[in-house]
Amino acid sequence: MGSSPSFPVVSLPRDRIFIVTGGNTGIGYEAAKHIAMMGATVIIACRSEQRANDAIKKMNEEYEQTKKDGKLEEGHINEDKLPVEFMKLDLASLKSTMDFIEAFKASGRKLQVLLCNAGLAAIEREITDDGYELQFQVNYLSHFLIVAHLLPIMKTSGEDCRIVFTSSIAHKFARFDLDKAQAQNLSDFDKLRYYGNSKLYQIQHMFSLLRRQHGQQVAVMSYHPGGVNTELGRHYHNLRLYSFFLSAMSTLRIFRTPFQGAVTLVDAAVNPEKKGLNGVYLVDCKPASMSNAARNEKFQEDLWTYTLECLKQYLPQDVLSALEGPSS
Ligand SMILES: NC(=O)c1ccc[n+]([C@@H]2O[C@H](COP(=O)([O-])OP(=O)(O)OC[C@H]3O[C@@H](n4cnc5c(N)ncnc54)[C@H](OP(=O)(O)O)[C@@H]3O)[C@@H](O)[C@H]2O)c1
Repeated sequence: MGSSPSFPVVSLPRDRIFIVTGGNTGIGYEAAKHIAMMGATVIIACRSEQRANDAIKKMNEEYEQTKKDGKLEEGHINEDKLPVEFMKLDLASLKSTMDFIEAFKASGRKLQVLLCNAGLAAIEREITDDGYELQFQVNYLSHFLIVAHLLPIMKTSGEDCRIVFTSSIAHKFARFDLDKAQAQNLSDFDKLRYYGNSKLYQIQHMFSLLRRQHGQQVAVMSYHPGGVNTELGRHYHNLRLYSFFLSAMSTLRIFRTPFQGAVTLVDAAVNPEKKGLNGVYLVDCKPASMSNAARNEKFQEDLWTYTLECLKQYLPQDVLSALEGPSS
């Protein structure tokens, strides 16, 4: 048996900025807390200000306890409060996503690391006000919009910038068919498969983006956190059954804790040995195999074209040109 995967605790400068979408609970919460404990500024981009503020309070209480218990490690900061901030972001709304992007741009800040973490799973078919299937928009489309707009900032933010897309082993159960991407026909819809599709798109997005970033100033990775006991299943129609399943799996140690689930994400975000690592799908901090559909270049390009069409109203020419890279 090998040892459990872990991330190094490295000292990070305060002006190294991380954005964690959905950092108020689950895997994102743990990632945000542990990165902030290393000293970097962490912005948790969340849809609920109340939940975000509660999360920041809880992070600080846990940090205080860690200090009291004498468990700070070399590389951790020893300060009164963690450098964690909230910004409003509702990925189910392209307007809210644009407001978040504009607010970040207006701050004039650099951005070194973007962790596309927020997600929903196993949702009944729901169409957003923008006209897209909810998991498609929250998990994938709105993250694409953020990347498109913030990539130029990342390219001028100095060395070692990174984007990490949160995929899932569920991408292996996806069925790539953009004609059915929004499940216009109700009988096409299968909530688990559509979740898998949204996770397939994360890996495909990674590859299409890398193909266009010839200089590779920004490293792009994807990862699967394992099966993790978080709030992800809260929308599952039979919540009592799901809760029972979760607690049974946790007792049997089949599910990971949120901290264990965040290890690969934190490692991808901070490990100096992963500087410049590109085009990988990480599991337990190591590159792992992905599905044929994820690696299929035609599928990746079809998704790219489809996505630009979905977002055309929100991608002005300068943003589009920067996104398409120097050869366009
Ligand atoms: N748990 C697993 O076993 C597992 C396995 C593979 C992949 N993943 C992936 O890991 C990521 C994190 O999931 P988790 O397990 O930590 O689940 P979680 O505990 O449910 O956390 C999900 C986060 O996403 C946020 N979110 C949901 N809808 C949003 C929206 N419209 N706008 C902004 N934020 C939104 C949630 O905010 P609210 O609190 O406001 O809802 C929450 O902060 C997801 O992408 C998930 O697909 C998880």
